[in-house]
Amino acid sequence: MCSDDAYMYGTRVTLATGASSTVAMMKTLLVEALGSVDDLKIVEMETPKVGAGHVKIEILACGLNYVDALMIEGKYQIKPPVPYRPGSEVVGRVVEVASDVTRAKVGDRVFAPVGIGGFSNEAVLHESRVIPIPANLTDGQGATFMQSYLTAWFAFNFRASLVKGDTMLVLGAGGGVGLAGVDLAVSMGVRVIAAASSEEKRQLALNHGAFAVIDTTTEDVKVRARELADNQLDLVYDPVGGELAEQALRALAPGGQYMVVGFVGGIPRLPANHILLTNRTVVGVDWGAWMARNQLENSKILMEVLDEISQGKLHPVEPVTYPMSSAAQALHDMQDRKIAGKVALIPDF
Ligand SMILES: NC(=O)c1ccc[n+]([C@@H]2O[C@H](COP(=O)([O-])OP(=O)(O)OC[C@H]3O[C@@H](n4cnc5c(N)ncnc54)[C@H](OP(=O)(O)O)[C@@H]3O)[C@@H](O)[C@H]2O)c1
Repeated sequence: MCSDDAYMYGTRVTLATGASSTVAMMKTLLVEALGSVDDLKIVEMETPKVGAGHVKIEILACGLNYVDALMIEGKYQIKPPVPYRPGSEVVGRVVEVASDVTRAKVGDRVFAPVGIGGFSNEAVLHESRVIPIPANLTDGQGATFMQSYLTAWFAFNFRASLVKGDTMLVLGAGGGVGLAGVDLAVSMGVRVIAAASSEEKRQLALNHGAFAVIDTTTEDVKVRARELADNQLDLVYDPVGGELAEQALRALAPGGQYMVVGFVGGIPRLPANHILLTNRTVVGVDWGAWMARNQLENSKILMEVLDEISQGKLHPVEPVTYPMSSAAQALHDMQDRKIAGKVALIPDF
């Protein structure tokens, strides 16, 4: 491979060294080696040609997810071949279409689950991968709902069994995945207890319909969740893990279900005796792996989520924004638990 060329998930990319001024160029953030988020580089590369069936979008906002940090650091279960370009979900404006394109036109504001390369100012995609965005979503909301809401949707509709009137404890309820879990569970008629470490995060969960909150910095989660649920806690949605996990498991009522979603606080060891006792169930939730094997089904649930959003039944949070060139700072702030809700990167190059 030439030093100025790279294959990124099968897409040949020519970096800017010595490129002719007539060639269309775009800017993007590049990971050259898995490791520190501080090593992200802004590079210029040739914009891919807008071939048959394709559209070019100017990216207006790109969602940032905890998974992006894990992937860049090489700590995620999927290790992307380097160099790679992070950023999986964007909102953009269509600026060019191939002559045979029928589903999009110049000027459309669209959502695109790009998979990779969202930390860029432009993207070229097949028209089947851009979706008109509901008018009631801002660019930031549109760029940050997908991973969080589809994980919750998959968990509640494909993995656990929820019944209207159930009571659910959501851990990390002021973070991306947790807050989407609160919103979706409430929309399904579930009573939600939201656990979070800061007033701002707890308030966000209350705004999304939680009926009670737990301050994880001062309260005993097991005791308080049992009290708030009148000893009838049916479900736990856990994107945090760590020390909170066992407390949450032990708060469950007989027959309760525990959804294992993420490990930002560390991978917990759940005591098997507390799973056996009173017939509890622990279910794994791996939306990413399921989505990779069930892309048609995933497209359907994406459209269902978008439909519920456009009807005002689901309410993605307005994200905190950072200039895209400050992606490393945004990733640090997310890892340091400073973000309430979601983060969007806005191209500034
Ligand atoms: N299973 C799946 O299919 C799936 C899909 C997407 C994401 N995930 C996983 O879900 C997890 C959460 O992702 P997210 O996007 O919601 O992240 P996020 O927005 O950063 O929220 C995570 C929350 O976890 C809490 N937390 C507790 N200990 C923490 C620590 N040591 N470091 C950072 N946060 C800590 C924080 O809330 P408090 O400050 O209130 O404690 C934070 O708000 C990640 O592990 C991600 O990989 C799983």
